Amino acid sequence: MSETNQRGLIVAVASTKGGVGKSTLAINLAAEFARLNYKVLLIDADKQRTSAKWFDRRQESISCGESWPHVSCIEKQGHIRQTVIEQAGHYDLVIVDPAGRDSREIRSAFGAADLIYIPTQVSQVDLETLDEVVAVLEDTYELNPDRRVKILVTQAPITPGANELKETKEFVNEYKDEMELSGVVIRSRKIYRTSPRNGSGVVECADSKAKAEIQLLAQEILQNA
Ligand SMILES: Nc1ncnc2c1ncn2[C@@H]1O[C@H](COP(=O)(O)OP(=O)(O)O)[C@@H](O)[C@H]1O
Ligand SMILES: [Mg+2]
Repeated sequence: MSETNQRGLIVAVASTKGGVGKSTLAINLAAEFARLNYKVLLIDADKQRTSAKWFDRRQESISCGESWPHVSCIEKQGHIRQTVIEQAGHYDLVIVDPAGRDSREIRSAFGAADLIYIPTQVSQVDLETLDEVVAVLEDTYELNPDRRVKILVTQAPITPGANELKETKEFVNEYKDEMELSGVVIRSRKIYRTSPRNGSGVVECADSKAKAEIQLLAQEILQNA
């Protein structure tokens, strides 16, 4: 993709469902890519402003002496596709965090992203909502046929069940021409809830397991770039 060579990678962390961990992943990926010295922009496209509020707290902590690497953040709503693509001309990586519902923002993100991560939990109810996301993906396919889509299991129990990923794998297999299962599983860990309070990412905290998960995810993204 010649267009991609002249601009940074656009990653959308999106779902039509709220509370699945989209913003948690977006902010943690931003912190990890910044740690790896990439110039990274977080685009908060959700009125709830979870990512933008995290960014404000991060700036506050940095101004009080924390030596975390710089992350940029803007807020944008509505038809954001053009903005996302333009901004990618100024950054190595752009991470888009749209609201958890079918919206202009999620459709724009699906139309702009090189790589789309769809976080899901492993319960049947969450898997059912994936049908809704698939419909939105199909609607936006023509805008952006080269994108890659990955389903990412998040907030999984610390102790894996024997058949933990079975239903998710079966679901993804039904759509294997359009999406694949991420090789990373994000577990439910307290540090994902507590670290955003001061604007840090888990990679800037002591929990080595959470840090390893986010680092693996960042590596997967770079490998798919
Ligand atoms: N891996 C995780 N482990 C523990 N708690 C998590 C994890 N991911 C998200 N959470 C918590 O779940 C809630 C919803 O996460 P959030 O990222 O805001 O979801 P979304 O952006 O999809 O609405 C928040 O309280 C967040 O701290
Ligand atoms: Mg959110």
